[in-house]
Amino acid sequence: MAPTSSPLTLIVATTPVRVASQDPANPEPVTRLGIGLNGTLPWPRIKADMSFFARVTSRAPEPGTTNAIIMGRKTYDSVPKHLRPLGKRISAIITRDTTGSVRKGVEEDLKKRKEKMAALAAAKTAGNVEQKDEPITDAIVVPSLDSALEELQEISGSVQALGKLFVIGGEFGDVDGVKRPLRIVMTNVVRKPEGGEEVPFECDTFWPLDYMDERNGWRSASPQELSEWVGEEVTGEWIREGDVEVQMVGYEKLD
Ligand SMILES: NC(=O)c1ccc[n+]([C@@H]2O[C@H](COP(=O)([O-])OP(=O)(O)OC[C@H]3O[C@@H](n4cnc5c(N)ncnc54)[C@H](OP(=O)(O)O)[C@@H]3O)[C@@H](O)[C@H]2O)c1
Repeated sequence: MAPTSSPLTLIVATTPVRVASQDPANPEPVTRLGIGLNGTLPWPRIKADMSFFARVTSRAPEPGTTNAIIMGRKTYDSVPKHLRPLGKRISAIITRDTTGSVRKGVEEDLKKRKEKMAALAAAKTAGNVEQKDEPITDAIVVPSLDSALEELQEISGSVQALGKLFVIGGEFGDVDGVKRPLRIVMTNVVRKPEGGEEVPFECDTFWPLDYMDERNGWRSASPQELSEWVGEEVTGEWIREGDVEVQMVGYEKLD
């Protein structure tokens, strides 16, 4: 079971956007970190980031453990239906819904997803014994971030031990009340056509934290630390993919 002192990692991709100030005393536009547009990502598919996210969130710390990904209901809905809940991870979906309709939808998605994954696994192993130590695919529906952490802790060990804990964006980047070590694994995204000027992405959803600096209680992690956190080498250098450049960086909340 993951001890309650194990870190909670916020994993997100953001892009800087100039937006109108909400502060009448400082009317100059401010830079915010955009994460979404119209219920989906602001940018077309960025393979380098999507595969990084998939590897990092599904890579269990040891055999027989499964990582958890905690998200708001809208982030869950933004995952293509045939891919949700995301495989080899336990999804915790936070909602205010009390009618049971979100839970019912998630249970139906889970059932279909498990059937599909079982069929794929059977084809792959051609009837050989199931891989017992592989991460499982599961999902829970909860009313808050606190209850997500509690319920994940409770179910840990009943089927498989809990591995790493991630919050995967949306409103739940605001984790001030969480009593655990907090980390951020962030992909910086910019659109910069070769040889041209930066062209900002349009965004309607923003990361709740704008500056992860010491004044706000955060410090930057070195590429070596970030590599240890995520379980693979991260250089911190910008990677170009078409018109877009991405860079993976890390932050840690100071005590
Ligand atoms: N760039 C990235 O890395 C990244 C990552 C994730 C998501 N996104 C994008 O971000 C957008 C979605 O994020 P979002 O911030 O709009 O939504 P979100 O946080 O994913 O989901 C919001 C929903 O969560 C539930 N919720 C929120 N606060 C709650 C509380 N205090 N208690 C209980 N339930 C609560 C509510 O669900 P109910 O309405 O069901 O009650 C609410 O409508 C999409 O555009 C998505 O593509 C981007």
